[in-house]
Amino acid sequence: MRGSPEVAVLRLGHRPGRDERMTTHVGLTARALGADRAILANEGASRADTIADITDRFGGPFTAETTGAPTELLADWDGTVVHLTMYGLPVQEELPAVREAHRSGPLLVVVGAEKVPWDVYEAADWNLAVTNQPHSEVASLAVFLDRLFEGAELDREWEAADREVLPQAEGKRVEDRG
Ligand SMILES: C[S@@+](CC[C@H](N)C(=O)[O-])C[C@H]1O[C@@H](n2cnc3c(N)ncnc32)[C@H](O)[C@@H]1O
Repeated sequence: MRGSPEVAVLRLGHRPGRDERMTTHVGLTARALGADRAILANEGASRADTIADITDRFGGPFTAETTGAPTELLADWDGTVVHLTMYGLPVQEELPAVREAHRSGPLLVVVGAEKVPWDVYEAADWNLAVTNQPHSEVASLAVFLDRLFEGAELDREWEAADREVLPQAEGKRVEDRG
């Protein structure tokens, strides 16, 4: 988000057919809840256009990128790496230290699909759990980003949108800005 070092989300793993919506939703959740970019690894790259299309229509700044070399990206990351996993430490206890680290440099948030390679656990500065119960990469990413930004992402301003949703107590109102 504007005014703080960048937050990127790396989506590891993507089972073609099974994970199409999940990978898209990782990207859309990253965008909506204050990350600056999503990086989709390997087969997940197929969802980048859909995320870019939503950004064109509903605003940014946000970029959807792809990588065929996620291991190298992780190893070369010049900043903090947080891996979200049910096996990690409680997010609520570690978040103050993560926030402090993020004040001085970029943050990469890694989420998986199926089994995440052990190297990722080792490469991460923090392996963090949003409860130690199994659920979903989309849910864990949403909770993590909201905790990181302490809710400020909910008031974010959007730029260069073709359309804007005007909040209504009932019904739908969308204004065309294009
Ligand atoms: C289908 S889950 C796989 C669960 C996996 N065994 C794990 O390590 O969390 C896919 C992804 O969701 C995320 N996830 C699931 N449950 C989580 C939790 N309780 N806390 C944090 N992340 C979680 C992780 O990023 C995981 O790679």
